[in-house]
Amino acid sequence: MRKIFLVGLILSVPASAAWAQGDYPSLPPGPGRDVAVRVCSQCHSPEIVANQRMDKDGWKALVDQMANNGANATNEEFETVTNYLATVFPATPAAAPAAPADGAAPAPGASAQTNDATGTVTPQ
Ligand code: HEC
Repeated sequence: MRKIFLVGLILSVPASAAWAQGDYPSLPPGPGRDVAVRVCSQCHSPEIVANQRMDKDGWKALVDQMANNGANATNEEFETVTNYLATVFPATPAAAPAAPADGAAPAPGASAQTNDATGTVTPQ
């Protein structure tokens, strides 16, 4: 009996968390999500944003466009929505360090050297 109770408890946790988010599963949790859902569901599903990836300027332009369409919110709320969208749907995942270019110099301390002309390895 006790085991069945525990399984039921575990299963109920994700379900109730999804419910608390207002049931828009494509919108990740984050500060400002509630404002985005409220402001951006006035005319269409707020999930319309989930297909797009933009930097903050891009999201700001889109939110401005929606304000021109007639979205009803204060400037603070538009700012909050912009920050939320730029955080959860950024243009690119955190910038990765540039990969070294092909033919980069071998690491210092490499024990064998390649003869550039022939590609043969000269033992030292
Ligand atoms: C007053 C009504 C209204 C509100 C509120 C509204 N939108 Fe829109 N939205 C539209 C209309 C109309 C379109 C389609 C025409 C267009 O792209 O402007 C649209 C289209 C979009 C698109 C698709 C645009 C594209 O080019 O793919 C996105 C994304 C979007 N809205 C995001 C938002 C966000 C984010 C918010 C909240 C800040 C929001 N909308 C609030 C009216 C609204």
